Amino acid sequence: MSPTKVLVLTGAAPDEWTRTHFDAAEWADVAVSFASPREAETAGDAEILIVTPTVADPLARARSFRRVQPSGQVLFVAHPERLERMKGLLPYSPEISEAWVVNAELSDPELRRLVVDAGAEVAGRRAIKGLYGRINARFAPQRDGQDAASTQHDRNLALAERYLSAILANAPDALLAIALDGSVVSWNEAATRLLGRTWDEAAGITFPDLFDPEDRPGALDVLNRAGMGESVRAVELRVSAADGQCLTLEVAAGPVLGGGGAIEGVSLIARDVSGRKRDEASLRQLNEELESRVARAVAEREQTAAALRQAQKMEAVGQLTGGVAHDFNNLLTVIKSSIELLRNPNLVEDRKARYLGAISDTVDRAAKLTGQLLAFARRQPLKPEVFDVAERVTTVTEMLRTIVGARVAVSTEIGCATCFALADVSQFETALVNMAVNARDAMQGEGALTVSVREIHEIPAIRGHGRAKGDFIVVSIRDTGAGIPSDKLGQIFEPFYTTKEVGKGTGLGLSQVFGFAKQSGGDVDVESAVGLGTTFTLYLPRIEAPLNPSETSGIRHEDTAAADHGRRVLLVEDNVEVGKFAVQVLEDLGHRITWATNAAEALSVLAEGSDAFDVVFSDVVMPGMNGIELGRAVRERFPALPVVLTSGYSHVLAQEGRHGFELVQKPYAAGDLSRVLNRVARRMSHAQ
Ligand SMILES: Nc1ncnc2c1ncn2[C@@H]1O[C@H](COP(=O)(O)OP(=O)(O)OP(=O)(O)O)[C@@H](O)[C@H]1O
Ligand SMILES: [Mg+2]
Repeated sequence: MSPTKVLVLTGAAPDEWTRTHFDAAEWADVAVSFASPREAETAGDAEILIVTPTVADPLARARSFRRVQPSGQVLFVAHPERLERMKGLLPYSPEISEAWVVNAELSDPELRRLVVDAGAEVAGRRAIKGLYGRINARFAPQRDGQDAASTQHDRNLALAERYLSAILANAPDALLAIALDGSVVSWNEAATRLLGRTWDEAAGITFPDLFDPEDRPGALDVLNRAGMGESVRAVELRVSAADGQCLTLEVAAGPVLGGGGAIEGVSLIARDVSGRKRDEASLRQLNEELESRVARAVAEREQTAAALRQAQKMEAVGQLTGGVAHDFNNLLTVIKSSIELLRNPNLVEDRKARYLGAISDTVDRAAKLTGQLLAFARRQPLKPEVFDVAERVTTVTEMLRTIVGARVAVSTEIGCATCFALADVSQFETALVNMAVNARDAMQGEGALTVSVREIHEIPAIRGHGRAKGDFIVVSIRDTGAGIPSDKLGQIFEPFYTTKEVGKGTGLGLSQVFGFAKQSGGDVDVESAVGLGTTFTLYLPRIEAPLNPSETSGIRHEDTAAADHGRRVLLVEDNVEVGKFAVQVLEDLGHRITWATNAAEALSVLAEGSDAFDVVFSDVVMPGMNGIELGRAVRERFPALPVVLTSGYSHVLAQEGRHGFELVQKPYAAGDLSRVLNRVARRMSHAQ
């Protein structure tokens, strides 16, 4: 076997120290030669390079040797005085396989670990093994005369070092030392497993290359940040492990400081979090499934709630229809039996008059009933006017005194200066009366009734509606009556809801209040305590000041002049029965009637000569052009011809108002109709 060629690198010329220590005469299997760094460049085929302390820039020498001899070993002899420098150098110098310290105690555990580690790394390799033993023996520190304490210290160090090696070897996490240029200086066994390659396979590649291509920028970022001194935590990077499985590693990194405090490299811990990631993913999926199941359950519940609401609505409609049918049947019974009796030819005069009176009263009650229903449905053709609420309340309160009786103390509290509202005055008065009558019934004729007026700038949340901003007049009616149980408060505004005995209440009073308030752009609320009393609060939109004094009076100038006869009326009515009846009534009242059955026909009659008429009297709800459209056409083409409209209920009227036309509400009494027709005809002829 040929001897191992060892080249000892010295300063310019081998000094005494080097010569004695590396005198290889006694090493039969080792051929030692000495060279200065310059000579070494041409020295060629040495297998082991020993760099001695006299060499300037030992690391550069080691590198250039390894370039020429990639499989060569570099042994590094450090002078005791340069230990600190060695400590900084070794972790980042993979070229140096082994480091020795001559005649020195390695009391610094870190340094000791580095030196021993480097030895352990190469100890098992090749022929150099024997050489180490001998050289180590030669350079072993002199132990003669050392005290027991020092030996103990040494043993402790050796123990600590073994533990440390075991920890590194058994650590489940990959531990890596990376040079600032990204090259991997050292790693433990877990790194081999987690990074999917052996130490030899990793030779020559940089840290980012260890990871999946799309995570390499992330790895580079970790390296850069730690290299700048930052302590990087919990960055996830993916690698392909040895078995081809993709692992997610959670990486933490920090700077490695050299002796002078300068950053010399990066230390890095990588933990396999693939299992946790899988758990997280399945948890997420579970969550999503749960969410969608909850959403489905909620949707199902909403469907059930909607079905329930629908059922409740149907019940309410049933109650309403039943109530209307019941009341109307009662009224019709009176009318029908009165008519039967009137057919008797032998009926005496005063009986006849009584039956006719009964019919007339019943019709009035029926009209009131439909009026209340329309008010609740907010389909009442309102006649909004600007009026002083305080003044109206004061006037109506006088009337309320007689309604509630002498044993109820009535008082008013007026708390606003300009209390103008835009609403239908007569509906407003009806609402006050309805609430006062309820209060009287609740107090059983004895107690206190307080009506107050004030202004506010916001309606509070009522029945689940949000607040409504704006200026409002508030009219409150407070009584000291029986109160309303809280579970009934939701029902009192429903039509036909009543707690009064048969014949005492129809359950339409508060429906009118509710419909009127809503249709006027306001609202109504109730507060009650059983045994203490109830307060109804009506909100109406407030108007700054009267726009036009003539509109504010609230008092209608009734036509008192005697009805004059003989008006020429163009009647527009599509219903044959009603049309025939109207013709008869108007003719009986002395007018001359031309009857058109629709708006188009009416316009063509007028086109032939509008002078032939004093007034147009039209129904509102008709197929084709409706009454309001006809009225506007007439106003445009024949400005001198007045138009009077009639309707029982019309969407258009309820929503848009009456466009300035006179309106006669159905059912109308013949006398009222005649008075209105005369008045507008007269007004028009005065104006001309
Ligand atoms: N001030 C009040 N105090 C106690 N309960 C009241 C008061 N106002 C209304 N209620 C209750 O609300 C129900 C409905 O009132 P609403 O005015 O709509 O109908 P009514 O008074 O029963 O009949 P109608 O007014 O049609 O003659 C009343 O039957 C009563 O139970
Ligand atoms: Mg009532």
